[in-house]
This record gives sequence, structure tokens and C-alpha cells, in this order.
Amino acid sequence: MSSPLDNVSIRLQRESTEPLHTQIASALAEAIDSGQLAPDTRLPSIRSLAALLEVNNVTIVTAYKNLEQLGYVWSKVGSGTFVRPAPPAETTRQIYIPHNGINFASATPTPEIFPVADFQRLLNKVLDRDGGHAFGYQESQGWPPLREAMQEYLISNGIHTPVENIHIISGGQQGIDLAAKILANPGDTIFVEGPTYHGAIASFQSRGARIVAIPLEKDGPNLKELRQQLRRHKPRLFYVMPNFQNPTGYSYSTQKKQALLDLAREHQFFIVEDDYLSELSFDHTSRQPLKAMDSKDQVMYIKSFSKILMPGLRLGLTISPAPLNHGIGAAKQFSDISSSGLLQRTLDLYLREKTWHQHIQAMQKFYSARCQAALKALAEYLPQEVRFTAPGGGLHLWLKLPQGITGDELYQQCLKEDVLITPGSFFAPSGLYDQWIRLSYAAAGEDEIIKGVKIMGRILKEKNAPHTIQPLL
Ligand SMILES: Cc1ncc(COP(=O)(O)O)c(C=O)c1O
Repeated sequence: MSSPLDNVSIRLQRESTEPLHTQIASALAEAIDSGQLAPDTRLPSIRSLAALLEVNNVTIVTAYKNLEQLGYVWSKVGSGTFVRPAPPAETTRQIYIPHNGINFASATPTPEIFPVADFQRLLNKVLDRDGGHAFGYQESQGWPPLREAMQEYLISNGIHTPVENIHIISGGQQGIDLAAKILANPGDTIFVEGPTYHGAIASFQSRGARIVAIPLEKDGPNLKELRQQLRRHKPRLFYVMPNFQNPTGYSYSTQKKQALLDLAREHQFFIVEDDYLSELSFDHTSRQPLKAMDSKDQVMYIKSFSKILMPGLRLGLTISPAPLNHGIGAAKQFSDISSSGLLQRTLDLYLREKTWHQHIQAMQKFYSARCQAALKALAEYLPQEVRFTAPGGGLHLWLKLPQGITGDELYQQCLKEDVLITPGSFFAPSGLYDQWIRLSYAAAGEDEIIKGVKIMGRILKEKNAPHTIQPLL
């Protein structure tokens, strides 16, 4: 009888220090990458593959689990393990946002805390000072005084960089897109954290790159998996969020940050660091960006001002490693010529006034209160089986649901009651994390948080309630 593995060679080196399950997972991953194992192929049962390779059943269970975590296969209880179909060329999933609902999906800061009065005053100051010049085309790399002000801002985050390496960009998303444009070509491999920000997945997929997700642990990427994948692939870049990661809220330990820098050097890939809110720390622990430790110039650093200031500014910065400097400049120019001159000049004055320190402190207090309210409500109203970790900052909680309901199902059920959450499957190139949801407390007030979590808790409890059998009388 033919087997899907007929043309796949799995040669085990029993004397090697590499565990047998890793060798098996590697061989199967290679066969999937090269197309020898087509999408939807059913892999041999655990028992038959264990017998074929003369290994223990547990070795095959671990190998399949490993492949599942990396997004190569999926398993269906009672039916077997299948090769996952290739991801669509572009992520098109959208989340529907009801107008009057409780919004746990948006990570957009609430307009109540935007420094509107400061910007109104400073906009007028710019117009009085610069008149029509504020509306002319600007240098692609950015308004030079703003780049200098950014250089100083970065020093307060532990980053020392020459002003020549700083580019002003129209938000963090543009930074990711520029990285994709200059570093990712069709067929290239890009590493991302698993799970990761869906906007980055879409950018890399739009370049035709193959995305490999490295499982994220509470203190950073799983280094064993990362090393394993580095034996299989030569990535162009690894896209990471070392502080208050989206969607998990996890932050890297210093050891893992250093290990990542060492691996980038050894294997010659760039790290693209998306620092979208490391300032938003609740426990006053300073969480330095990876860039602050980057003595070998391997990190393309992207800083967004959307979460810590206002998303509508559409301003951010990137620091490019020297070999990428020219490419980033050109890619930015051909993307949108330059970011708004009027807003760059206004942000420049805002940063120079130094009131941003107080603004950030106010944001920390504001979101810390919402986070505490969310944690309290989760503990009080959700079934005990729901797992989550208190983040040290940021805007997100990452919740593992009990068996019996997926994130997508919970999303649909909550939507019917005008409560919006984001299913975990949103954060993977190939629909993993279907047992998880992201709950963001950025856009919901404390009363709404309690009300929304109560509704979620009721849905989960109803789903898990044991079905009683009524006697027919
Ligand atoms: C992790 C991450 N990076 C980048 C962005 C995009 O940010 P920006 O508004 O600066 O383009 C977002 C937006 O939510 C995000 O969550």
C-alpha cells in the first residue's frame, strides 16, 4: 500500500545529540517546504510512523506537536494530522467593529487622553513661523530639526545613534512595509514571532515571502526552535516586538535579547524591531529596546508614536543599520515622498517642550488602571480554566480558552452581544492559536470592561455547562 512518505527520506542519526523527534520534525518540514508533501496530505498515524522508523510513539507525538506549533500541520482529534494548506497570498481578514459595542479589539488609544490643546497651540506656532513652507514637499528622510529632536528622544530610551541613520516615517506600519520592500523578495524566508501582529504578516506576504513563526514564550522566542529553524532556513530578517508584544503582552528577558543579537550575527540576518509602545510600562521597570543593545548594527528599529501619542499623526521613525540606509531612503521616497511637513514641524516643537514626559506618565497611570480593572474582572467572571498572564505594561491580554470553544466561535458569540474581541487565529500566518483570544483594554472604559468580561464569562460558562439529561415523564 502506498504511503504519503514513499518519496520522503527520513534518515535518523541515532548517535547524534539532536533528539530523534527534532530530526523527524525537520525531515517532514523540509518535505513540506519542498512540496514533496502537498497541502492537506494526511500524515501516517503515530503508531505506523513509530513502527516504520523504529522509535517510540511518544517521539512521533512530540515531532507532530512540534510541527503543529510551527504551523506546518494541523491535527483533528480522531482523524489524524494533516499538512496545512499554504497561507493565502495576502491576509484580508478584517474585524467588524460595531459602533456602540464594547470594544476589546482595538488597540487604539482613546481620544480623551490625546494632548489636543498642546497640538492646537503648537500648530498655530508653526503656521505663524513657517507659513506656506509648512505645506511644501519635505525632505524624504524627514524635517532635519525633528530628526535631531528624535535623536534626543531616543537617548532617553537608551539608544545612541547618529542623526544620519534616523528616517521619519508615516507610522510604524510604513516602517514594516519599507523593511519588507528592501529585504523580502518572493520566496525569501522571513521569521516572525508566533503569534505576531497581523499587519506585519500582511506586509511580508504581499512580497511573496515565506513566513516562519518562531513560538514565543513568556520571556521571548523559544531559542531551541529558533536554532532549529536556522538550521533549515536562511532568513532575511526576524521581525520582533521585544517589549509588550502584540498580541501577547510578553516582554523579552535581557538574556534572550542578547541571544537573539548573537544569533543574528552568527547567521547574518537583520532583526526588525517594532517598538510600538515600550514606554507604556506599569511597573516602572525600564524595558530597553533591543536597539539599545545593538553594538553590531544588526537591528532595524521602528518606533511608532501612534500608541503613546496619537495614531492620526501618522508619524514614527526608523533607525536603519548602515547597509540598509540608502535602500530605506529610496523606498520611503517612492512610497509617499515624505511624511506631512506640517505635522513633523509640530511634533518637533512638542518634543522640544519636554511635556511628553508628563504625557507618558499620565498614559501609564491611565492604562495601568484599565489593565488592573481587566485583570480583576477576568479573575472574577471567567471560568477558572481560562489562562492568562498579567503583563508589565502595554495594551493587551492574551487568553487561552478552555477546550470546547475556539477563539473564532467566542468572537462570533460575543459579537451577537456587541462585545468585540480578537480571535487568536488573526495573529498567525496559517490560522494557528485558535484556542486563544486577544483582549485589549485600550478603548474600553473601566465600567465597560466589567460589563464586557461578564458577558464573555457567561458565554464561556454556558458553553461549558454540563448537559443534563431530563427524564421523560
Ligand atoms: C505591533 C504594531 N506595529 C505597528 C502598528 C502600526 O502602527 P502605526 O499606527 O504607527 O502605523 C501597530 C498598530 O496597531 C501595531 O500593533
